[in-house]
Amino acid sequence: MPTLLQIDSSPMGSASVSRQLTREFAARWRSVHPEGRVISRDLMAIAIPVVDSRWVRAQYTPKESRTPQQNDALRLSAEFTRELLDADEYVIGVPVHNWGPSASLKLWVDHFVTPFGPKLENKRATFIIAAGRFYGPASGNESALYVKPWLRTLFGRLGMDDMRFVVADGSAEVIKGKKSMETFLAPHIAAIQALFAEPSRAEGGFDMAIAGRDHS
Ligand SMILES: Cc1cc2nc3c(=O)[nH]c(=O)nc-3n(C[C@H](O)[C@H](O)[C@H](O)COP(=O)(O)O)c2cc1C
Repeated sequence: MPTLLQIDSSPMGSASVSRQLTREFAARWRSVHPEGRVISRDLMAIAIPVVDSRWVRAQYTPKESRTPQQNDALRLSAEFTRELLDADEYVIGVPVHNWGPSASLKLWVDHFVTPFGPKLENKRATFIIAAGRFYGPASGNESALYVKPWLRTLFGRLGMDDMRFVVADGSAEVIKGKKSMETFLAPHIAAIQALFAEPSRAEGGFDMAIAGRDHS
């Protein structure tokens, strides 16, 4: 059964840009895969522990020698890994916080990006980056969208080469009252819809930014 893993990590609830766009993506995906399953993982709905020395030692202990306490330390990592392996495709909301990912997203990746992490060849990810500032070519911030190479590097290390990026930048205009949320979201929703209109793509690496926000 085709399976989509939807990851949300914004603390902003219904006012979140990334959550509204991952929801749009999941709705489109469902319409294309009516028989499919969506695993929805809200990283703000659980307390993800910071990885500590107990966790690191457990990672480096062979499975068959782990104590019950070590298995317990790795329980959430195993759950996240299982969700990644069970899904064929991911949509991942990436709020930019202090030039990096939101804290819960960083904690999430710390739990599975390890030398023993899952192999994600043949999986596809669409990252929906939401940022308050503008990062386009004329912004002067073009090289500061660090989350993009960060995501590419770490998921690339797990074997993934099918990554797409939707960049919804400049969301501060909504908070400042310069734009309505609806106007702000419209081109990004259109861009997500366009992803589903694409003919199935050729094999190989694919990296795209859309709605005039190409930071590649
Ligand atoms: C703690 C915090 C730090 C932020 N840091 C940045 C930043 O470094 N660069 C930026 O462009 N926007 C920054 N923002 C704005 C968010 O990126 C923006 O509100 C975006 O829409 C967040 O995604 P969300 O709407 O899904 O929560 C920050 C917001 C918060 C709450």
